Amino acid sequence: MNFQLTEEQEMLRKMVRDFAKNDVEPTAAERDEEERFDREIFDKMAELGLTGIPWPEEYGGIGADFVSYVIAIEELSRVCASTGVTLSAHISLASWPIYKYGNEEQKKHYLQQLASGKKLGAYALSEPGAGSDVASMRTTATDEGDHYVLNGNKVWITNGGVADIYVVFAKTDPDARHKGVSAFIVEKGTPGFSFGKKEKKLGIRSSPTTELIFENCKVPKENLLGEEGEGFKIAMMTLDGGRNGIAAQAVGIAQGALDAATDYAKEREQFGKPIAKNQGISFKLADMATEVEASRLLTYQAAYLESEGLPYAKASAMAKLFAGDTAMKSTVEAVQVFGGYGFTKDYPVERYMRDAKITQIYEGTNEIQRLVIGRMVTKE
Ligand code: CAA
Ligand code: FAD
Repeated sequence: MNFQLTEEQEMLRKMVRDFAKNDVEPTAAERDEEERFDREIFDKMAELGLTGIPWPEEYGGIGADFVSYVIAIEELSRVCASTGVTLSAHISLASWPIYKYGNEEQKKHYLQQLASGKKLGAYALSEPGAGSDVASMRTTATDEGDHYVLNGNKVWITNGGVADIYVVFAKTDPDARHKGVSAFIVEKGTPGFSFGKKEKKLGIRSSPTTELIFENCKVPKENLLGEEGEGFKIAMMTLDGGRNGIAAQAVGIAQGALDAATDYAKEREQFGKPIAKNQGISFKLADMATEVEASRLLTYQAAYLESEGLPYAKASAMAKLFAGDTAMKSTVEAVQVFGGYGFTKDYPVERYMRDAKITQIYEGTNEIQRLVIGRMVTKE
C-alpha cells in the first residue's frame, strides 16, 4: 500500500495552492459579505485546466485522476469554500453524468464545453417537496414527438442562474416513483426556462443557490441523457462521486481553520505566554489535526477507488459523513481558540464556521449518508 502522492498530484496541489492564495483568498471575505459570484475566478480556473481535471483530453479535459480532483477542491476550499463548491458542482455533478451517460455527440458538444471551462455547469435534482426523498419529485417531462416539455420547479441549485448547462431530472412517468425519472441536458436561454429566488444563506455566500422554473420548456429529444426511466440511477451514481467532492471541500475548510487557529495560538499571549502553551488549547489543535488527517485519508481513498474503477459509493459516503462532521467541529473549535476575535469578521474563522455547516447538509444530509452506509453494511 502506497500513501504517497505522485509527482503530478504534488505539482497540481502546488499550482492550485498558489492560485488559491493569489487569486481566490484576497477577495474571499468581500465576496462572502457581498454574496457575489465572480465568473473571472472560474475563467482563470479554466485557463489552468482545473475545469476538466478528470476528463480525457479528447473531451477538453487534462486527463488527470480523481485524487488530483479532490486535491484541487481541498486547496480551493482551504481559502474559499464557495469557490470549492462552484468547481465541485461543475465537475462532479454536471460533467460526470454527461461523461458517463452521454452519447458521443453529447460528450463532444456539452462535455467539451464544460471541461474546457467555456461553459459552467449545474445539477438540478432537489425540489421544494423532494429533498432527501428524491423519488417524490414532481417536475414532469412530457414526450411530444421530437421534444419533451418540462414543467415544474427545482430549488437550491448551486451555480443556478450563472451556469450555462444544467443536468435536470424530471418524471417521464409521473405515476411511478424512482422508475419514472429521466435526465435531461438543458441550456440556459431555452424558452420556458427561467430563474426564481436566489437564496440568502448562512454560508458559502459567494456561491449562488437559485430556484429554476420550467414552464412549458421544450427540450429536444437529443438532450435526453441516458435512457428514459434511467434518471434516478444516473442521479444516484452522480452523487456517489459528488459526495467525495464535498468531503474534499470539508477537508479544505477544516484545514483552513486549523492553520488559522495554530498560527493564532502561537502568537496570542495571555498570562505571559502564548496560549498554545496551555494544554487546553494544544489538545484542541491535536484533535483537530488528527480528525482532519483521517478525513483526508477517507477522501483520497474514495477518489483512488473511483480512479481505479473499483466500487467507491460507500467510501465516498463515509468520507462525506466524517469530513463534514470534522469540518463543523474543527471550525467551532477554531473560533474558540481565537476567543472574542474569532467572533468577528477581522479573522476568517467565523466564515469557515458558517461555511462548514452546509457540508453536513447538501449532496445528501449526514443522516442520509448514514442511511446509505447502513444499507450497504447490512447488505454485505
Ligand atoms: N447507484 C446505483 N443505483 C442506485 C444507487 C446508487 N448509488 N442508489 C440507489 N440505486 C437504485 C437502487 O438499487 C434501486 O434500484 P431498483 O429499482 O433496481 O430496485 C433504486 O435506485 C431505488 O433505490 P432506493 O430504494 O434506495 O431509493 P430511495 O427512494 O429509498 O432513496 C436515497 C434512496 C439514498 C435516500 C436517495 O433518495 C438519496 O440519495 N437522497 C438524498 C438526495 C441527495 O443527496 N441530494 C443531493 C442533491 S445535489 C446537491 O446537494 C448539490 C450540492 O451540494 C452542490
Ligand atoms: P429534508 O429532506 O426535508 O430533510 C430535513 C431533515 O430530515 C434533515 O435533517 C434530514 O437529514 C432529515 N431526514 C429526512 N429523511 C430522513 C430519513 N429517512 N432518515 C433520517 N433523517 C431524515 N440540490 C440539487 O439538486 N442541486 C444543487 O446544486 C444543490 N445545491 C444546494 C446548495 C445549498 C446551499 C443547499 C442548502 C442545498 C442544495 N441542494 C441542491 C439541496 C440539498 O441537496 C438538500 O437540501 C438536501 O438533500 C436535503 O433536502 P431538504 O433540504 O429538502 O431536507
